[in-house]
Amino acid sequence: MADTVTITDNRTGESIEIPIVDGGVAASEWRRLLPDIWFYDPAFVQTAGCASSITLVDGEQGILRYRGYPIEQLAEKSNFLEVAYLLLFGELPAAAELDEWTHNITHHTFIHENMRKRFLEGFHYDAHPMGMLVSAVAALSTFYPEAKQIFDPDSRKKQIVRLIAKMPTLAAAAHRFHVGMPFVYPDNSLDFASNFLSMMWKTAEPRYAANPALAHAIDVLFILHADHEQNCSTTAMRVVGSSHADPYSACAAAASALYGPRHGGANEAVVQMLLEIGHIDNVDAYIRRVKAGEVRLQGFGHRVYKSYDPRAKIIKRVADEVFAVTGVNHLLDIALKLEEVALSDDYFLSRKLYPNVDFYSGLIYQAMGFPINMFPVLFAIPRTAGWLAHWKELLDQDSKISRPRQLYVGHPERDYLPLSERGA
Ligand code: SDX
Repeated sequence: MADTVTITDNRTGESIEIPIVDGGVAASEWRRLLPDIWFYDPAFVQTAGCASSITLVDGEQGILRYRGYPIEQLAEKSNFLEVAYLLLFGELPAAAELDEWTHNITHHTFIHENMRKRFLEGFHYDAHPMGMLVSAVAALSTFYPEAKQIFDPDSRKKQIVRLIAKMPTLAAAAHRFHVGMPFVYPDNSLDFASNFLSMMWKTAEPRYAANPALAHAIDVLFILHADHEQNCSTTAMRVVGSSHADPYSACAAAASALYGPRHGGANEAVVQMLLEIGHIDNVDAYIRRVKAGEVRLQGFGHRVYKSYDPRAKIIKRVADEVFAVTGVNHLLDIALKLEEVALSDDYFLSRKLYPNVDFYSGLIYQAMGFPINMFPVLFAIPRTAGWLAHWKELLDQDSKISRPRQLYVGHPERDYLPLSERGA
C-alpha cells in the first residue's frame, strides 16, 4: 500500500494522488485539483501550519521531546539555560558554548532605566503584571531599533539573548511595582533562577540567598514550560514573525496570546477554581457543575494530549520538593481529590480530559509565595525561549507571510441604503 491519498472531484470525475509525507499531506497538492476550494479548519484543529524540528508532542502516548530529548531526562539532568540553547540551536551546548551562552545571558539582564522609571512606573498602581509584561516586551523594540535587522545574524542573536535575559527582570519589576516594593537590580553573581528569585523577593538584606531547593524547582518548571510546538502563543509568534516584524513585537503578540485563561492564564484560573471550591467536601458538587456545562475544570484537557500531560507528572514530583520547604499548600488536597474524582468519571475519560501542565504548577507557585496574578508571567519567562526558537526557525525556513483564506458566508452584493430608508 502506497503512503498516499487519492482525492476525486466528483463534479469532474478528475482525481489526483497525494503523497503522505512526515504525517501530512501538502495543501499545495490539493490546489492542483481544487484551486479555489479551501480546507475549512477554524482553530486549526486538523491543520499543520509549518514543519518544525524543535519539539515533538505525541498526544496519544503523552510524549514531549525537545530536539529529540525526552522532557523527563531534561528535567532531571539539564538546566533552563542549557535547554534554551538546545531549543534555539538544535544541539546541547559543549562546555565552552554553555559558558559563553550563560555569560551572555547573565550580562544582559539589566533593562534601560527609562524602561523602569518612565515606562513601568507609569502604569496604574494595580496594573496586572502580565499586562505590564506584554507592554514592556513591545516597548523593548523601541530601545533596540537594530532588532529590525532580522536577517543580520549578529543582531538576531543579540536580540535573542536580550529577550531571554530581560524577561525575568521585567517580570520581577512588574511584580515589585504591583506590590509597591522598590525595584531590585539583577545580581550577575547568581544563576538564572536564583537571580529571578532575588529580583522578586530581596528586601533589606545586602544579598538575597535563594533556597537551593526552590531555585531548582523554578529552574525545572522553566524547563517544562520552555516550548510546546504550535501552541496558541507560539502560533502567534510565528504569524507575527512571518510579517518580518522585529522579535520584541512578535514576542509581545505571543505573550498576549499566552495571557488568555484557555492558555497560559489557566494556572491562575486553576488556583481561583480551587479557592472557590474551598474544601474537598465541595469537590463532588463542583464536578457536577462541570458536567452540567456550567464551569470548566481548569487545568484539565488539552488540544493535543489525550492522555496525562507528561509535564504534569514531573510537576507533581517538583511539588513534593517545594512543599518540603514551604509546607504543603492546603489547596493540594482539593486538587488531588478533583483529579481522583475526574479520572474515575466517564464524562472526563470519554473526552480524554486529563490534568495538563497548569493543573499543579499554580499550587507550587502559590506555595513559593508568588501572587496568583504572577502565574502567567511565570509561564512567559521560559516560553520566550520556545517562541524565539520558532521565530528563528521560520526565518531560516524563509517562510511566506501567514495569510490564510476564509469561507465567505456574508451578504451577497447589495446597493448602499440611504439613511432615510433604513429600519429603526
Ligand atoms: C496550555 O497547546 C498547548 O500546547 C498549550 C500548553 C502549552 O504548553 O503551550 O500545553 C499550555 O495552554 C494547557 C491548557 C491550559 N488550559 C486549561 O487548562 C483551560 C481548561 N481547558 C480547556 O479550556 C480546554 O481543554 C483546552 C482549551 C485546553 C482545549 O480545548 P479544545 O482542544 O478546543 O477542546 P474542546 O474545547 O473542543 O473540548 C472537547 C470537549 C468539549 O466537550 P463537548 O462539547 O464535546 O461535550 O471536552 C470538553 C469540552 O466542553 N472540555 C472540558 C474541558 N476541556 C474540554 N470540559 C470541562 N473542563 C475542561 N477543562
